Amino acid sequence: MISHFLPLGFAVLASATPISFLPNNLYPATSSSTGFILIANVTDPTRDLSPSINHFQLTGVHIGAGLETAVLSHNAGRTLYENGSTPDSIGIAADSVGDGYYPYGLRIGPLPSDQPDASYVQYVGINIGTAQQGVGITTTNSSVDQPWLELYGPDNGTFIVCLEAHPVYGRPQYPVRFAKIVMVGGVAYQQIPAACVAITLVPQCAALGNPPPDAVYNHEYARTVRCFDDVASVRWS
Ligand SMILES: *[C@@H]1O[C@H](CO)[C@@H](O)[C@H](O)[C@H]1NC(C)=O
Ligand SMILES: *[C@@H]1O[C@H](CO)[C@@H](O)[C@H](O)[C@H]1NC(C)=O
Ligand SMILES: *[C@@H]1O[C@H](CO)[C@@H](O)[C@H](O)[C@H]1NC(C)=O
Ligand SMILES: *[C@@H]1O[C@H](CO)[C@@H](O)[C@H](O)[C@H]1NC(C)=O
Repeated sequence: MISHFLPLGFAVLASATPISFLPNNLYPATSSSTGFILIANVTDPTRDLSPSINHFQLTGVHIGAGLETAVLSHNAGRTLYENGSTPDSIGIAADSVGDGYYPYGLRIGPLPSDQPDASYVQYVGINIGTAQQGVGITTTNSSVDQPWLELYGPDNGTFIVCLEAHPVYGRPQYPVRFAKIVMVGGVAYQQIPAACVAITLVPQCAALGNPPPDAVYNHEYARTVRCFDDVASVRWS
């Protein structure tokens, strides 16, 4: 994939092609920021949901006291930050909402065992409490031109988003989950449940707010990450 870039770059330099013919996002702009939102990138556009959820934003919906399930929303992304005093303690925490007294953290954990697909699909939530360790944003490899920034979790697999259009919701819901790679007889299998598609969650820089003065947490350990200025403008190949 990276090999596409050099020949194109040389061709442009060697010819009289105006520079404006270069896709302006060939080397997509990244910045650094503590705050970011996560943008869903449908890795195989032929499998996108209908209507498309490509470039929708990660947020949480309230499902119980201090519990939010992760969903995609068109434009209401929750501001998040990487938190931790050491590389081993990194997790993803959420900017305050409402009165913002308590910290919220991203958690990836088992689905209740009575749920279909519970053996390999994990729940993703933004819950009251500390951020789960082993979840973070990948770092750019400076020896390759294409920055590759995305959310990673503790297991190998892929984030997925599902279409749940039960009439009681009144409108489609897009819960975000994680499909683990399962090993069967030494062979790795990646399964995506029906009505779900694989996504990566790509950081887009956003301003991190300040916790309210009476909050029981602070942003002292918010880490600076690289993030795209505009994920939708990234040309991936
Ligand atoms: C984003 O999606 C495109 C397909 O539209 C894919 O080529 C690219 O690899 C994806 N990037 C990431 C970081 O997932
Ligand atoms: C942020 O990191 C610090 C230091 O590792 C930790 O004490 C605190 O609980 C973390 N906050 C959240 C919301 O996870
Ligand atoms: C960075 O990318 C280069 C080229 O693909 C690869 O050889 C190298 O191992 C990578 N380094 C890291 C730290 O991932
Ligand atoms: C993920 O895959 C890598 C490479 O195949 C492996 O070394 C690592 O142990 C796996 N991690 C988990 C949590 O299974």
